[in-house]
Amino acid sequence: MSENGYASDTLNDFAAEPAEERRVVVLISGNGSNLQALIDEQSHDRLGGRIVAVIANQADAYGLQRAREAGIDAVALPHREYESREAYDGALIKVIERHEPDLVVLAGFMRILTPRFVQRFLGRLINIHPSLLPAYQGLHTHARALADGVAEHGCSVHFVTEELDGGPVALQAAVAVAPDETEDSLKEKVQAREHLIYPIAVKWCLEGRLRFGEGGARFDGTPLPPTGLRLSHADAAEELDEDAEE
Ligand code: GRF
Repeated sequence: MSENGYASDTLNDFAAEPAEERRVVVLISGNGSNLQALIDEQSHDRLGGRIVAVIANQADAYGLQRAREAGIDAVALPHREYESREAYDGALIKVIERHEPDLVVLAGFMRILTPRFVQRFLGRLINIHPSLLPAYQGLHTHARALADGVAEHGCSVHFVTEELDGGPVALQAAVAVAPDETEDSLKEKVQAREHLIYPIAVKWCLEGRLRFGEGGARFDGTPLPPTGLRLSHADAAEELDEDAEE
């Protein structure tokens, strides 16, 4: 017993307060396979934080079901119910801020964001794009890459700025394009890499290792090149148990 009459354990008395859990909000429009990759990491305590809400602009987005199944707050906020992009993004900001996120993760959120939205979350807003940026910004990236006959394609995680798909790249994963590649097979290979690198990028952001600052993205304080950190086809293939010779 201590002097003031309650049981005391010296170690407990001096134990540090647990660090506050980092909070993540994920925005989706559809399937949510990237969301699922994040949920899977979280379920193994490897995400470096907790997904506190998933918000979709389509009420029937399958990703909302994935969120519910994982016990995560799933919010449908259909853009069709708003008369302008500004009005929608204003409502979206409110819903996101209610969840006090440290990081806002775009995972297949098929909306062009207003400057106001981007500025509100600048530096804590990331996206995954299915190309090796700066190549193939915009849509139909796999078809365009195939049409150009490129030898290499892939995906990029980048900080979001007002320039569409133009913010500083943090992390990329490459795939070798096979001679008989189709749009579907390429998409599948790229998505496997998306699911590999997005959870890593989220974790690094939550740990403060990956940061957005003047002049672009930094990793452990070191400025990254315009294409960010790069996971090669061979390394990703090994990680994914794929045939690296493809
Ligand atoms: C992904 O391919 C991502 O690169 C792009 O949108 C797609 C979303 O897929 N931004 P999913 O909803 O995560 O399955």
